[in-house]
This record gives sequence, C-alpha cells and structure tokens, in this order.
Amino acid sequence: MKSAFRVFLSYLLCDWLATAGTIIVTTSAVVFLTLAFESFSNPYYGILVFLILPGLFVFGLVLIPLGVWRCSRRIGGVSNIPEAQITGTKAIRLFGLIALLTVVNVAILSAASYQSVKYMDSNQFCGTTCHTVMSPQHTAYQDSPHARVDCVSCHIGPGAEWFVQYKLSGLAQVFAVTFNTYHKPLPAAIRSLRPSQDTCEQCHWPQKFISDKLRIVKRYDEDEKNTEKTTVLLMHIGTRIHKAHVGRNIEYVSSEPARQEIPWVSVDGVEYKAGEPVGEKRRMDCIDCHNRPTHAFETPGPAVDKALESGELDRSIPFVKRDALLALNGKKPIDGAPVAVKRIFARNIWPRMDITWGAYPNNIGHDAFPGCFRCHDDNHKNASGKSISQDCSTCHELLAVGEESPEILKQLGIATGEKK
Ligand code: HEC
Ligand code: HEC
Ligand code: HEC
Ligand code: HEC
Ligand code: HEC
Repeated sequence: MKSAFRVFLSYLLCDWLATAGTIIVTTSAVVFLTLAFESFSNPYYGILVFLILPGLFVFGLVLIPLGVWRCSRRIGGVSNIPEAQITGTKAIRLFGLIALLTVVNVAILSAASYQSVKYMDSNQFCGTTCHTVMSPQHTAYQDSPHARVDCVSCHIGPGAEWFVQYKLSGLAQVFAVTFNTYHKPLPAAIRSLRPSQDTCEQCHWPQKFISDKLRIVKRYDEDEKNTEKTTVLLMHIGTRIHKAHVGRNIEYVSSEPARQEIPWVSVDGVEYKAGEPVGEKRRMDCIDCHNRPTHAFETPGPAVDKALESGELDRSIPFVKRDALLALNGKKPIDGAPVAVKRIFARNIWPRMDITWGAYPNNIGHDAFPGCFRCHDDNHKNASGKSISQDCSTCHELLAVGEESPEILKQLGIATGEKK
C-alpha cells in the first residue's frame, strides 16, 4: 500500500506538468466543494462554480498523464521512473508546501472569482464588453425607465435552472459572435425569455395594478410654427387592460418571429379566429404587450416630438420639425442638423447591426405598429360571432384628440405647455 502510494507520488513529481496538474486538480476540487453548496441568486456565480471550476479540474486531470508521458519518454519507459525518495522531514516539508500552495490558490481563486462575478454581473459587461453586438440595446436601455435595472433581472432572473439554460445558449452565442455568424439585427428575444412571472413580476406585482392613468401626448405639426397638438387619454390600465389579460389563460399563434401577425387567439378555451392557426403557440404574458420596456427604439416622429416637448430641440426655429424628419429619413444631410436630431439618429440607427427605423416593432399601442390591433381588429371572431373589440373606448377614453388647447386640461387645471 505504502509503496504503491509512493510510486504514484513519484509519477506526479517526475515532470512539472504532472505536478502542476495535481495542484490544479486539488485546488479546483477544494474551491468547488466550498462554493457549490452556497445558495446564490447571482446567475454568474454559477458560471464560475459550475463551468469554470469543473473546466479547471478536467484541465488538471489532462495535465497529469501528459506529464507522466513526457517523463517516461525522457527516461525511457514508465518502469524507469525513479521511486520518489521522500521520507521523514523531507516528506513533511513537501506536504507542507502542497498544503500552503493549496491555501494560497484557494485565496487567489476566491478573490478572483468574487471580482469576476461582480464584474460579469455589471451592465457594462452585458451591454458593452462581452456583448459589443448588443450596444444598440445597451444605448436604448440607458435612456429608459429601466436604466437602473440590471440586464440579468429581466434576461435571466433568480435561480440556477434558467441560468444554466441561458449560459448554454450563451456559449453558442459566443461562437456566433466570434465567427461572425449571428443574425443582424439580433432577433427579438421573446422566445428565449423566461415567463414574466419570474422576471417582471418580481418587481411589478399584478395585485398593485388597480388604477387608471391620464396620458397627455404632445405632437407637433410640420408647419412653420411647429404647432403643438395635444391628445389626452384616460388609459384604462388597472380597470380593464391588465385585468383582461394578466393572470388569464390567453394563448395565441403567430406564423412569423416578429409576431406581428396573429391569426388565432384563445381565452380559456374560447377560440377567436381570423385565419388558420399555423405557427408557434405561445401563452400571452407581460412581454407580449410590453416587448420594449427598455430597448425601445424610437420612430422619427415621436422621437422629434419628445425632443420638442422637453425643449432639447428649439421649437421657435421655423420648420424645425419638418427639417428634423427630413434629416432623420435621409432626405437631407444629418451633419447639418441640430445636435438633438443627431442624438436621435445615433440612438436609433446602427448600420453595423442593420438596425434602422422600425427594425424592432413596439407592441404597446397601435400607432407605428399594429400592437394591440394584432388581435383587437374586429376581425378575430369566436364561434358565436363575437370579436375582440376595437372600440376606441375599450382601452382608453379619448378626452381630447390633437387639439391645440384642450378644454379638458383647463378643467383639470393642467397647463397645456404652450409658451405664453
Ligand atoms: C426591463 C427588462 C429588461 C432589461 C433590464 C433588459 N432587457 Fe433586454 N430584452 C427585454 C425584453 C422583454 C426583450 C424581448 C423583446 C422582444 O422580444 O420584442 C429583450 C431583448 C433583448 C435583446 C434581443 C434584441 C432585441 O432588441 O429584441 C438583447 C440583445 C438584449 N435584450 C440585451 C440586453 C442588455 C445588454 C441589457 C442590459 C444593458 C438588457 N437587455 C436589459 C427586457 C429587458
Ligand atoms: C428589478 C426590478 C424591475 C424589473 C425586473 C422590471 N421592472 Fe419595470 N420598472 C422598474 C422600475 C424601478 C421602474 C421605474 C418606475 C418609475 O420610473 O417610476 C419600472 C417601470 C416600468 C414601466 C413603466 C414605464 C414608464 O414609461 O413609466 C413598465 C411598463 C414596466 N416597468 C414594465 C416591465 C416589464 C414588462 C418587465 C419585465 C420584462 C419589467 N418591467 C421588469 C423595475 C423593474
Ligand atoms: C394587454 C397588454 C398588456 C399586458 C399583457 C400587460 N400590460 Fe402593462 N400596460 C399595458 C398598457 C397599454 C399600459 C399603459 C401604457 C401607457 O399608458 O403608455 C400598461 C402599463 C403598465 C405599467 C405602468 C403603470 C403605471 O401606472 O404607470 C406597468 C408597470 C406595467 N404595465 C407592467 C406590466 C406587467 C408587469 C405585466 C405582466 C404581469 C403587464 N404590464 C401586462 C398593457 C399591458
Ligand atoms: C394576443 C391577442 C391580444 C393582444 C395582442 C391584445 N389583446 Fe386585449 N384582449 C384579447 C382578448 C382575447 C380579449 C378578450 C378577453 C375576454 O374574452 O375576456 C382581450 C380583452 C381586452 C380588454 C377588455 C375588453 C372588454 O371588453 O372589457 C382590453 C381593455 C384590452 N384587451 C386591451 C388591450 C390592449 C391595450 C392591448 C395592447 C397593448 C391588447 N389588449 C392586446 C387579446 C389580445
Ligand atoms: C385594444 C386597445 C385599444 C383600442 C381598441 C384603441 N386604442 Fe388607442 N391606444 C391604445 C394604447 C395602449 C395606446 C397608448 C400607446 C402608448 O403608450 O404610447 C393608445 C394610444 C392612442 C392615441 C395616442 C397616439 C399617440 O399619438 O401617441 C390615440 C390618438 C389613439 N390611441 C386613438 C385611438 C382610436 C381613435 C381608437 C378607435 C379606433 C383606438 N385608439 C382604439 C390602445 C387602444
């Protein structure tokens, strides 16, 4: 027994590769055992514990036979490997050294892993370093209500299972980026996203959706004065919109990846048809309406209106809206446009990723894209002839539509924003 152990030891010490392999194997095993049973909510912790450490372990295991082979070639056969003459104080010193190295390695690996986990979790990593191809999404994200919400809160969520699934697909994506085989623009992620109960509802719990909300939308004409027109909507968010879909069993079929055409819908088994149900079936959740809660790419008109409303673009310049649209649509050189217009262009147009106006439809309304009207078009009918309603007051009361000085805002005591 004793001599078998010594033979084994002499193999490991015969070549530095084998020795290095031994150290890597033991350390990664020790670190793995220390970390593997910690409970964690950070998905990247998992990459380290379940991908990198086992990887190191295997790497070490491969080094050992490689070292033994090198050694035996050098001295003409395994049987010639001299038995390690390690006894007494020499042995104690050797084991002491191995123990010390292990402790040092554990310390280094833990510190390094803590730092790398922290780093990999950062939005900088997600949005830029590793994912340069995602910089359009990162830029739109920084200018959104979720700018302070981590990418991983929506894209991975808590727990280990989804993390593993995401990282496996992440590995495939790393290859796609390395060999430049990815699709441009990047496909919308809805298929691979986790059901929104585990992501969105971690922060927005449906029980708190109770009230309706007033929305005041400013639009500007393309005339000399850039005339301001105001639309006032009472959005039936809590009383109808969320109630009608959230927590209900609504399924639909769409035949194309962007999900802009929906020929078939069912609510608790009642079918509404506008065509044949060919395509992939999906259970509706938050993301079917809020598909752009953060990577909301703009369309030229509303983007310019927003800049005019905030004052970033000076409304007193004659025809500023018309000229901004001409520049954004490539009918006038963008170089001569005001800074605010250049910024809108840079935020939304990404030639390197083939992203131009409208590349990513936004499903929340029905203005630039079909949105709600994908189903609410009075065309989807059930067996008894009832349709999914397009009646304007189903979703909102139109308190004013494109008025210069809406009466309703005066009644509510809200200034119209017109400069006096
Ligand atoms: C508030 C939740 C949320 C956050 C935070 C978030 N995303 Fe997304 N992301 C989504 C949703 C929802 C989609 C799916 C859009 C669709 O299918 O139409 C998506 C899609 C994507 C896509 C696919 C391309 C596209 O535009 O559809 C990329 C790439 C992406 N996100 C990257 C990121 C990065 C990088 C970050 C952090 C900087 C991030 N996301 C943060 C919700 C989020
Ligand atoms: C980590 C917490 C968190 C997660 C996860 C999250 N949100 Fe949010 N959400 C917020 C915060 C914070 C705000 C900003 C509230 C504010 O500005 O008043 C917000 C705002 C919103 C708004 C209002 C936007 C506006 O224009 O005012 C919508 C809609 C929304 N989130 C939808 C979603 C959807 C859909 C998801 C899942 C894809 C999601 N959120 C995931 C925290 C979160
Ligand atoms: C049928 C489509 C639809 C679904 C499904 C849906 N929402 Fe909404 N949600 C809306 C609309 C429309 C608004 C109002 C947007 C506006 O006024 O611009 C809204 C508003 C919101 C707001 C802002 C509320 C406020 O008072 O400002 C949040 C947050 C939100 N939704 C989160 C969610 C979450 C989380 C889910 C999933 C549990 C969800 N929504 C499901 C359509 C939907
Ligand atoms: C995938 C199809 C689908 C989409 C997309 C969709 N809805 Fe619906 N919606 C339905 C169905 C089906 C019903 C009917 C539910 C029932 O029978 O109770 C419904 C009902 C409603 C109702 C209640 C109608 C009533 O008579 O009380 C409102 C409000 C509503 N939707 C708003 C919206 C808004 C706002 C959007 C876009 C942000 C939207 N829906 C997008 C399928 C959809
Ligand atoms: C199924 C729900 C639904 C129905 C039906 C509906 N709308 Fe809307 N509408 C919305 C939502 C959601 C928004 C808000 C989009 C957003 O947040 O920007 C909206 C926004 C609007 C706006 C403001 C657009 C802007 O400039 O930003 C107008 C105007 C409007 N709707 C008119 C109508 C008219 C007219 C009808 C009847 C033909 C109608 N809507 C039917 C859901 C609906």
